[in-house]
Amino acid sequence: MRALIKHHAGEGLAFDADRARPEPGPRDVLIRVRRAGICGTDRHIWQWDEWAAGRIPVGIVTGHEFVGTIERVGSAVTRWKPGLRVSAEGHVTAGVDYNSRTGNAHIASDTRIIGIDRDGCFADYVVVPEENVWPVHKDIPDRVAAVFDPLGNAVHTVMEAGVSAKTVLISGVGIIGLMAVTVARAAGASRIFCTDVNPPRLELAKKLGAVEAFDARDNGWISEVRRACRGEGVDVLLEMSGADAAFDQGFRALRNGGTAALLGLPAKAVTFNFNEHIIFKGCKVLGINGRKMWETWYQMEELVLSGRLELDDVLTHEFPIEDYRKAFDTFLSGEGIKVELTIND
Ligand SMILES: NC(=O)c1ccc[n+]([C@@H]2O[C@H](COP(=O)([O-])OP(=O)(O)OC[C@H]3O[C@@H](n4cnc5c(N)ncnc54)[C@H](O)[C@@H]3O)[C@@H](O)[C@H]2O)c1
Ligand SMILES: [Zn+2]
Repeated sequence: MRALIKHHAGEGLAFDADRARPEPGPRDVLIRVRRAGICGTDRHIWQWDEWAAGRIPVGIVTGHEFVGTIERVGSAVTRWKPGLRVSAEGHVTAGVDYNSRTGNAHIASDTRIIGIDRDGCFADYVVVPEENVWPVHKDIPDRVAAVFDPLGNAVHTVMEAGVSAKTVLISGVGIIGLMAVTVARAAGASRIFCTDVNPPRLELAKKLGAVEAFDARDNGWISEVRRACRGEGVDVLLEMSGADAAFDQGFRALRNGGTAALLGLPAKAVTFNFNEHIIFKGCKVLGINGRKMWETWYQMEELVLSGRLELDDVLTHEFPIEDYRKAFDTFLSGEGIKVELTIND
């Protein structure tokens, strides 16, 4: 089969036209991939930064966001049949630790992720455990189903924080932040403020429903946002940049007693004023990891089917898997926001 492989400990990926097709175990399904999304995580893997070098096994098939069709099921699988159009939760767990057994499998201690710890979906075929399969509703197009993974990150963050009738600051309107703008709007946020350091993304955030979008490099926005929110600050902060400065800025813009949901991953430990930003503020801080299985998926399906999410401007490009270099160039240069690979489209 065709596959994009992390072929050596260094920059780039390699196209292998002749990779062996994976074999499903008794409780796995073999999925023929139709489309897959390129994610910020794949940027780390392409560029081979410190995180990637410490985590990614060389030789792995990359990619973790996809939609496809079940080709074959393992001998013990009874719940799915070949021919079903599916996406999948990429976090694989054995299902036996405390969190897996108490409804919090998204924070299981033994999580292994497809395209990171085991073979992924930038290939003709991918294998996942039957538990991880999500059947895609017939009214949801492939190009949306292919990005359930990051859209689920946005939905999980917004729903955990609770935004209905609340003022919301989204710091970082990259792929997930932009998705969060449209999700928060659909979920009833009263006013959405955004920050980024990329002016075209700020414009897009406004188009998707933000009332104001600020360049984070000029600190003046913090008092402007506070002023606009009874002089006290926003009710909810959704941190989606992972930028060092964004944590301090975001908490300054948050009102006392507000809620901060943190999704963005700083590259290294950040200095942070706990007294001022959390303790005296009496705010609630939520760590956001992945997507809830399966609450987030049901919420996401409902939101997509409601027709209230605007995703067209975020899903900017698609290329056949053979043109993966062009696809990654478009993504890495920032020209593309969400770039998809068509595989068996
Ligand atoms: N917690 C999780 O489960 C999880 C899952 C996926 C991604 N992530 C993390 O979430 C973050 C967002 O992911 P993404 O795919 O949207 O990445 P992205 O790179 O598309 O978006 C990040 C955005 O932050 C902006 N930014 C940079 N500096 C900023 C600053 N000082 N203030 C405000 N914005 C700033 C960038 O211009 C960019 O638009 C990343 O840190 C990623 O690693 C976390
Ligand atoms: Zn992803």
